[in-house]
Amino acid sequence: MADKYKIAVIEGDGIGPEIIGEALKVLDKVSGLYGFSMQTVMLDAGGVSIDKNGVPLTDETLAACRNSDAVLLGAVGGPKWDGLDPSIRPEKALLGLRSGLGLYANLRPAKLFDELAHASPIKDIKDVDILFVRELTGGIYFGDNGEYDSDEVLPDGTVKGHVAYDTECYSEGEILRILKIAFEAAKGRRQKVTLVDKANVLASSRLWRKLFGQVAKDYPDIATECLYVDNCSMQLISRPSEFDVIVTSNMFGDILSDEAGMITGSVGMLPSASLGTPGTPGLFEPIHGSAPDIAGTGKANPCAAILSVAMMLRYSLGQPLAADAIERAVADVISSGFRTSDLYREGSGEIFVNLSEITLAILKTLG
Ligand code: IPM
Ligand code: MG
Repeated sequence: MADKYKIAVIEGDGIGPEIIGEALKVLDKVSGLYGFSMQTVMLDAGGVSIDKNGVPLTDETLAACRNSDAVLLGAVGGPKWDGLDPSIRPEKALLGLRSGLGLYANLRPAKLFDELAHASPIKDIKDVDILFVRELTGGIYFGDNGEYDSDEVLPDGTVKGHVAYDTECYSEGEILRILKIAFEAAKGRRQKVTLVDKANVLASSRLWRKLFGQVAKDYPDIATECLYVDNCSMQLISRPSEFDVIVTSNMFGDILSDEAGMITGSVGMLPSASLGTPGTPGLFEPIHGSAPDIAGTGKANPCAAILSVAMMLRYSLGQPLAADAIERAVADVISSGFRTSDLYREGSGEIFVNLSEITLAILKTLG
């Protein structure tokens, strides 16, 4: 009997429902071509769940995700929910899914499509293919935090007053497991891993650096480099093509992966995978947000969501051939000149398409 996968689908807010609708068309198509079937379970999370249930992520949604083979997510958030208390903001749904499903490894490929090099703010850019391996369930995002009042007076006479704090805390176990993911990923790529930290200042970073050196010994064929995060943010601009795998903490990975998204030209093209221990469902989502300003206009670029389906097939469903086919089809459609509004240039001879038209071109290329 053909494999049947249970996929939890969270469309979310803004352009989430439209891009996921397109991504599901592609998933449906490859399931026919590669002989597997799926059952999709539609779930609410983010703003839409706040409106319906008063919370961004219900226990039922989390349980349904746990009970699936993979989770496909569009985007969450929007100005409508901006004023809410931080504990019930839409973003909390993402953090709840990450920690609730134990998704400690966030893979964010930042790959430049040659034909889109003009969209990069960097001139003469080429051959950029970076895989960010971001730790996702630890560090300052999940460390001890709080607020209190203090009467303490600083040396210049300033009274401290209200104080708020967050803590960067990492255990050996948390660091080792993400480092291994990075080194394993580099084996199948260009054999290089860069650790990004702030070891000149932070104790937690020094632990990362020590363990990085230890793990590197198990991978003698992999070249290694360690960069401070401030320096890395410059190097990403001056020599982006020299990076292969970049492994880093939750917070630094958040910041640098956005920078890399800009370098490669369009966040509309970049997918991501968040993975836990093998056997648990991964979560796959575009790296872009919910873009409420263009929701419902057909202007959204569904490629990042479609490429997230490819990552889902590769990492959670064990269908690498279907994943390769989707990635090839997206690349072909881009080389054929199809462009959604985020990438289209007037007078360039490119073919201006809306989100379902580019999907149609991808479906046709798939066969
Ligand atoms: C991301 C986002 C999230 C993060 C926010 C929305 C909580 O910026 O996935 O990069 O900071 O991790
Ligand atoms: Mg981010």
